[in-house]
Amino acid sequence: MAFLETAKQRYTTKKYNSEEIISEEKIAELKEIVRLSPSSINSQPWKFFFVSKADMKQQLANASYWNAQKINEASHLVVFSALTDIGRFEEQIEKTLPEGSINYYKQFLQPRGESHVRSWMKQQVYLSLGFFLAACAENNIDATPMEGIENELYDEILGLEGYQTLFAVAIGYRHAEDANQPAITAKSRLNLENVVETL
Ligand SMILES: Cc1cc2nc3c(=O)[nH]c(=O)nc-3n(C[C@H](O)[C@H](O)[C@H](O)COP(=O)(O)O)c2cc1C
Repeated sequence: MAFLETAKQRYTTKKYNSEEIISEEKIAELKEIVRLSPSSINSQPWKFFFVSKADMKQQLANASYWNAQKINEASHLVVFSALTDIGRFEEQIEKTLPEGSINYYKQFLQPRGESHVRSWMKQQVYLSLGFFLAACAENNIDATPMEGIENELYDEILGLEGYQTLFAVAIGYRHAEDANQPAITAKSRLNLENVVETL
């Protein structure tokens, strides 16, 4: 499918068919795809958790407000977290990045302070969300990005250290009656001329 068609067809799934599970092969592909997400200076300040075990998925669903049912019925839950431990981040880039990228970090990011660096790291994780959602759509996997979760509880349940949960994505296959699918509810966006200028 051409990507424009994929973009028109993908949507935020509100109701899943709990009988349909994503194959291990597809999950392995999604893991590889999210690993390949681009990031500024190839910084990769993230960790992704693919949750399918019933007990852990249930605990996370219970920490997800109005999103609980979607998570319970979806095949998997993917949790996106960002590094918070700056020392660990600096160690990581010293080991993995070329000198030019490390110099960029030292010259333009580090001097702006830890809160700026943390916010920049979170931006990279959001970029991986866009990449992941596009990949799901391209693979005919339905998805629900969710900021409506209790982040600190997620951190506790997952036992995070040096990372913080930013958001989660339920993935699976839609229920035939999901009212949010584009065939039932038309996609709503601002007009092209409001958001794109051609100069
Ligand atoms: C970062 C982010 C957080 C979101 N959080 C939620 C959420 O907690 N629950 C939910 O049902 N939808 C959530 N959404 C879905 C948006 O409301 C949805 O993407 C938007 O209305 C556009 O609709 P579409 O994805 O169906 O095209 C979120 C989307 C993004 C990108």
